Amino acid sequence: MSFIQLEQLTKQFHRSNQPAVDALDLSIHKGEIITLLGPSGCGKTTTLRMLAGFEKPSSGVIKIGDQVLHDQTHSTPPEKRGIGMVFQDYALFPHLTIEKNVMFGLNRWRIRERKKRAKEVLELVGLYDYKDRYPNALSGGQQQRIALARALAPKPHVVLLDEPFSNLDAGLREKMRHDIAYILKEANATAVIVSHDQKDAFAVSDRVVVMNEGVIQQIATPRDMYRCPRNCFVAQFVGKTNLLSGTMESDKKHVTTHIGRVCLSEVTDHIEEQVSLSVRPEGCVITENGQGRYSGIVERVMYSGEYQELYVRLSEQEHSQPMVIYAPVEQDIVIDQELSFNIKPELVSLVEH
Ligand SMILES: Nc1ncnc2c1ncn2[C@@H]1O[C@H](COP(=O)(O)OP(=O)(O)O)[C@@H](O)[C@H]1O
Ligand SMILES: [Mg+2]
Repeated sequence: MSFIQLEQLTKQFHRSNQPAVDALDLSIHKGEIITLLGPSGCGKTTTLRMLAGFEKPSSGVIKIGDQVLHDQTHSTPPEKRGIGMVFQDYALFPHLTIEKNVMFGLNRWRIRERKKRAKEVLELVGLYDYKDRYPNALSGGQQQRIALARALAPKPHVVLLDEPFSNLDAGLREKMRHDIAYILKEANATAVIVSHDQKDAFAVSDRVVVMNEGVIQQIATPRDMYRCPRNCFVAQFVGKTNLLSGTMESDKKHVTTHIGRVCLSEVTDHIEEQVSLSVRPEGCVITENGQGRYSGIVERVMYSGEYQELYVRLSEQEHSQPMVIYAPVEQDIVIDQELSFNIKPELVSLVEH
C-alpha cells in the first residue's frame, strides 16, 4: 500500500513557459527510500519543496497516510506535515551545540524527553560523543549526519534530503552513501532524496525516479532501471550506453543495425519495425582469437584503474559515434589496434526514443 501519494502534481513558476514540475504521479511505500534523479533544473528540488510545504503547487494533490496535505481547497502548513528536511548546505545553527541543534525541533517536548531523544538520534548517527561541540568543529560528513539526526529527532513520518552527497569529497561520499541508507533504515524512515548523481542514487535507494524537464521518465529499482531503461534519455543518464537504431527482424529476437545483426535476450512483443537499442559497454566482450561477430579499430583508450574504456570504430560506422566498450585492465590494448568482440544479449535492451 502506498504511504505518500503525489497526484498530477504541477508547478508553473510565473514568467516561465514550461512547468518546472509537470503532472507528476508518484506513490511511495512506507519505509521506502526513493531518489529523484535527473539533470540540474529538471524539477527535483521543486518537487521536494512542494512535498515539504515550502512551495505552493499550481495544481495536484499530496497525501501522506490517510491525510490530504494539499489539494485545491486546502494546504497543511510545513510545520504540521510531520516531515523532516535535510537541506543541501545542512543549515546547522553555528551558535548552538550539536545537542542543541538536534533538540531544536523538540521545543514542545519536556526537557528530559528532549535530552533522551537527542541521545538516541546522536547515537544512531554515531556522534553522541560530540554533543557539546559546535558545528564548525565537525567535518562535512559529521555535519551531514548531525543534520540527519536533527531531521529525525521529532520522529517525522517522512524525511526529505536535498543533494545530501554533493558537498562531500569522493571517499567520504561512498561512506556516507552507506551510512545514510543504514541510518534511514534503522530509523524506519520513509525518505525522499534528491540527487543528480546516478551512483549516489543507485547506492542508497530502493527505487529511483528519473526526471527530465519536469516529467518522470521512469520509476524502477536500480537494477531494473539499468537493465531495462525505458527510453534513450534514461539509458544515457543511468550509466553509459551505445544507442543504435535498427529494424526488427520477423523473428522478433534480432535487430538489423548499421553495425550488423544484434540479438536480444528474448523474443519481444514490440510491434514497431523501426527500433532503438541500448547496448551497455560491459556487454561488449572482446574475443582473444579475433573471431567475434563485430570488429573495429580502437580510437581511444581511457584507463580508469578498474577497467579501460575503449572507443572502437567499426568499419560500418564511418560517420557515426564509435562504440564504447569496457575492457578488463589486464588486457593490453593500444590505439589503432583492431579488435573483435561479441555482444551479450542480456545487456541489450529495446528503448523508446
Ligand atoms: N523560485 C523560482 N522561480 C522561478 N523559477 C524557478 C524557481 N525555482 C526553480 N525554478 C525553475 O524551475 C526549474 C526546476 O528547478 P529545480 O526544481 O530547482 O531543479 P533541480 O533541483 O532539479 O535542479 C528550473 O528551470 C528553475 O530555474
Ligand atoms: Mg536542486
